[in-house]
Amino acid sequence: MCGIVGYTGGRRASEIIYEGLKQLEYRGYDSAGIATLSGGNITVVKRQGRVNALENCIGDISGSTGIGHTRWATHGKPSDINAHPHSAGKFAVVHNGIIENYAYLKERFFKDVSFTSQTDSEIIVRLLDAFYSGNLLSAINKVGSLLKGSYAIVVMCTDFNGLVVLKYNNPAIIGYGSGENFIASDCPALAGLCSEITIPEDGDIAFVTKDGVEIYDAGLNRVERPRLENLATPASLELGDCPHYMLKEIREVPASVEGTVLSYRTAEAKLKRVVNGVKRVIIIGCGTAYNSGLVAKRYIESFARIPAEAEIAGEFRYKNPIITADTLVIAISQSGETADTVEGVKLCKSLGAKVIAVTNSPYSGITRYADAVAPVTAGSEICVAATKSYTGQITALYLLAHTIAGLSIGEAYARLAVMPSLCKKTLECAGIDTLADMCARSGGVYFLGRDIDCAVAAEGSLKLKEVSYVPCEGYPAGELKHGTLALIDIKAVAVVIITSKHLAGKSENAVEQVLSRRGKVAIISNIDGIEKTFEGRAQVIKIPACDENLSPLLSAIAVQLLAYKTALLLDRDPDKPRNLAKSVTVE
Ligand code: G6P
Repeated sequence: MCGIVGYTGGRRASEIIYEGLKQLEYRGYDSAGIATLSGGNITVVKRQGRVNALENCIGDISGSTGIGHTRWATHGKPSDINAHPHSAGKFAVVHNGIIENYAYLKERFFKDVSFTSQTDSEIIVRLLDAFYSGNLLSAINKVGSLLKGSYAIVVMCTDFNGLVVLKYNNPAIIGYGSGENFIASDCPALAGLCSEITIPEDGDIAFVTKDGVEIYDAGLNRVERPRLENLATPASLELGDCPHYMLKEIREVPASVEGTVLSYRTAEAKLKRVVNGVKRVIIIGCGTAYNSGLVAKRYIESFARIPAEAEIAGEFRYKNPIITADTLVIAISQSGETADTVEGVKLCKSLGAKVIAVTNSPYSGITRYADAVAPVTAGSEICVAATKSYTGQITALYLLAHTIAGLSIGEAYARLAVMPSLCKKTLECAGIDTLADMCARSGGVYFLGRDIDCAVAAEGSLKLKEVSYVPCEGYPAGELKHGTLALIDIKAVAVVIITSKHLAGKSENAVEQVLSRRGKVAIISNIDGIEKTFEGRAQVIKIPACDENLSPLLSAIAVQLLAYKTALLLDRDPDKPRNLAKSVTVE
């Protein structure tokens, strides 16, 4: 949430920062800005709107040191003034996070000063300006000690030919170049610029110049942090022949299943040790990650026969959870940086749980606290709506459930081996265009299913509402008659997912109930003969037959394509839905 970029070296900073911001737009896209340092002066340009609103100004700002920001508003509406960087005196700063005590600090130190913006972030630059008297480290340390909340901040000062990073609970990555160095919120923004990175720890202050990086910990001791390989490549950011990242990433589902299986093999031994003796499992996540947890709950309970609960991380962390030493917490997060999930993990660790992170981001916050990582190898996911990471998560969770249950992992690998080709077939399945047209014209869409299909129904609903803004619900098919049926009329569309053979008849009852109220019905199914049963009454999207437990990998593709196509019909931007951001690093 909010993307930050910094550059110091020999090239024109504004151009490099502009390109970096475009890579980070998935973190927020309501306004953007760049500041550069040249001849001892700071120049700032900032605009409401997407990063390309800056394109025409790039040529006007010279300097080979600079900072940039793409914003997702938390405090103060999107506007030129509220856009970052914020500046005061000798300083300009960009900030990702929330300063929770900004009102208190403003009252305490700047009672009679009127601020330029309505943001919480302006307090940072005002404090720096007030406390600086020639020693940058001591001023930044002092300001850091006053701030409460979460932050990744990059500071530029006219007295220093470089940048300073200050981080607490929000991501900041330093990338090493040759005669130049970089800062970004995430590795993809550094793809192609540097192959080595360092991730400062919470409380660190890092001085970055074109020649090197000096890091101080919270006690102001000079420290070394490990250099890591930057795994993001420029190729992962290319659209190829796809008009949108969403479509490109749905088409990459087969590769995400394949890649995740391969990487699970390398993690398996450690995961086996961590799950040893576990008696109960709690799964936490937000959004799509929570929805993959709903699938995992079913895997774990049915394979291992131990209780498993899926919890929304933002609720879980405030409910005084019951955790014992034999509780395993599985934290799922594509980005590994979602604030509620990271805080949930920290809480569980402090209560003595074992934690496994299921993530697509190997160096993310969540991995630092977990006992082991079940890697999702979906590759960079740029579209705000998660697609291939969801199927990657389900793949990892399917394998992890086998490990927890002590079942043959070899057989699980064999069952998964056929899935990439079935995923490819699903990408071609007929009928989704017609269904998208029905959804685009509808007054509301109700995704229904039972058991594992119900878990995918929740994700189908989330996907469609995120990118098309059509009101949706994901609901257990059997629960329809206890309330939601009141919403069914001629304008309603029900999308019923039916892949569980033993429950097919029950789900078909829900289809009949909707049809009887004149609602339209589409069925996503791999059950033989279902087209005949509903011929002329419901549209059937036939997905390939597969192992029942793995059907979410296929039904997910169908609902993802449906969301994408509906968004296009309604003229929405599927990659950057309104009001949303991909990586939610604030509460
Ligand atoms: C945001 C995104 C969702 C994502 C959720 C959790 O809400 O828009 O697509 O599922 O965060 O993100 P995570 O990175 O933790 O999986």
